Amino acid sequence: MVVKKARAIVALDRPDARSALDLVERIGKACDFYKVGNELFTAAGPQIVEALRALGKSVFLDLKLHDIPNTVGQAASRASALGVSLLTVHATGGRAMMEAAVKGAGGKCGILAVTILTSLDTSAVRLAWGRARLDLSREVLRLAGQAANAGAHGVVCSGLEASSVKSDYGDRLKLLIPGIRRPGDSRDDQRRTVTPLEAVRSGASYLVLGRTITADPDPAMAMRYVNKMLAPTR
Ligand code: C5P
Repeated sequence: MVVKKARAIVALDRPDARSALDLVERIGKACDFYKVGNELFTAAGPQIVEALRALGKSVFLDLKLHDIPNTVGQAASRASALGVSLLTVHATGGRAMMEAAVKGAGGKCGILAVTILTSLDTSAVRLAWGRARLDLSREVLRLAGQAANAGAHGVVCSGLEASSVKSDYGDRLKLLIPGIRRPGDSRDDQRRTVTPLEAVRSGASYLVLGRTITADPDPAMAMRYVNKMLAPTR
């Protein structure tokens, strides 16, 4: 089987525009796709998206929206006008909310539905959802089904559930996998982690790389290591 090349996205989890753009400069040509999340967007606003676009970089706006359909639809419309390629919403916001996001994005930016955060394990999800019995993988699959029915571009899940999502919905959904760790890295606050190679082999279209790259003293070299893992494989 030929596996298509996955795209690596570095998470610019930085407190301000200057430190984010410093990191982009240090990584240089090794990465052309960056994630702007809640920390950086709150500090630096839409201008950071414009600055990244001006450098020729693609942008994933990871706001993980979860609100009423009208609000999320309008936010998706504003995000797509900024020129971002991908935007996240929470799948648990419901089908109408996801449909509103897809409609608001108007085909210009892909809506990704977050299934269950990679920082949560089964016991944390059981506690949060008030369910004594719950199979986390089955819930991820159920939410992926709703995202597919709402017309989402893809879903965010951990590498541990990716193969089953891929086999059930691979023709309709792209997979974005965060919680990536190189062998030997600390897991930090993440719980459901995989290596870059495992993520690629499970069928990811996009890998989100945070501290495994950004906390490395030489982020460009760390990125080149990951890029080698992303080369198309047979
Ligand atoms: O540093 P680390 O690799 O743990 O960062 C993961 C990044 O991916 C963070 O920016 C986090 O917001 C994001 N993310 C995640 N889990 C999801 C979706 C996004 O960890 N389900």
